[in-house]
Amino acid sequence: MQHHAHHEDEALENVKEFPFTDKDFQAISQLITGLTGIVLKYEKKTLVYSRLAKRLRSLKMGSFSQYCKYLESPSGKGEISFLINAITTNLTRFFREEHHFHHMRDVVIPSIVERYRKNPTAENRRVRFWSAGCSSGEEPYSLAMTLAAHMPAGFDVKILATDIDTNMLQKGKNGLYKDGEGIPTEYLKRFCSKNADGTLQMERNIRDLIIFNPLNLLHQWPMHGPFQSIFCRNVVIYFNKETQMEIFNKMAALLDPKGWLFIGHSESLFKVCDAFVLKGKTTYTLGTQS
Ligand SMILES: C[S@@+](CC[C@H](N)C(=O)[O-])C[C@H]1O[C@@H](n2cnc3c(N)ncnc32)[C@H](O)[C@@H]1O
Repeated sequence: MQHHAHHEDEALENVKEFPFTDKDFQAISQLITGLTGIVLKYEKKTLVYSRLAKRLRSLKMGSFSQYCKYLESPSGKGEISFLINAITTNLTRFFREEHHFHHMRDVVIPSIVERYRKNPTAENRRVRFWSAGCSSGEEPYSLAMTLAAHMPAGFDVKILATDIDTNMLQKGKNGLYKDGEGIPTEYLKRFCSKNADGTLQMERNIRDLIIFNPLNLLHQWPMHGPFQSIFCRNVVIYFNKETQMEIFNKMAALLDPKGWLFIGHSESLFKVCDAFVLKGKTTYTLGTQS
């Protein structure tokens, strides 16, 4: 049976290097929920263990109780961001839920172009997108490549990419990836270059479209909008309903009246936020729009 066990569970079963009481788990999970919105159910205990074991080892600590005390102490203040970075789940990939990028190409971009053609103001030339919870950057880069390929020249285009995890933001800024899995061949040729070691570098002109900034979605948002599209995919899934409501209502206020919201494949705004109407698979516009 053992070979079926998830490797993170195995870490706990086989090692049990650090005592980890339920009380320790409660303390860490409460701290995490308060800081990030992420609700850690009890079944996540083994996951939390394996995410933090390495850290305890390098801090030369003997138990999770000791780590919890450290987190509460004044000297442990700097540890908080490490804890957050360790606990967040950053799974992502290029052109994940590809249909959103097709929608961008076939509907969003043409409508932005058409609006400018009818009314060529500076305001209509300014095009802003937001990838909220961008992880290591695959999502904003997928968007950037789609825009670079399909937006006519002359628009002032920027993508804001934010996340709470500072390690992931650094990866995004570097624009350096193990490979280009998921990127259409045509985009690979146009917007990426292969390094001698096989890694993939996003080209300067694509990187320049994106601004990576730290932002905790639970904190105040400094942006004013309007955004023509917001991607908030697979980020709020572990948040409680009230937090989700607050976040989506704030997003509604920042969205262009004709803008779009894209959420994750397993998410829904049903009974969460009625500011939006469903227009396609996990694809929304504002309800005020006819
Ligand atoms: C599973 S990834 C999703 C990445 C990408 N949006 C996608 O769908 O492929 C979730 C991201 O949300 C971020 N996150 C979690 N809580 C957050 C919060 N309170 N504020 C901002 N980002 C958060 C995590 O750091 C992680 O990078």
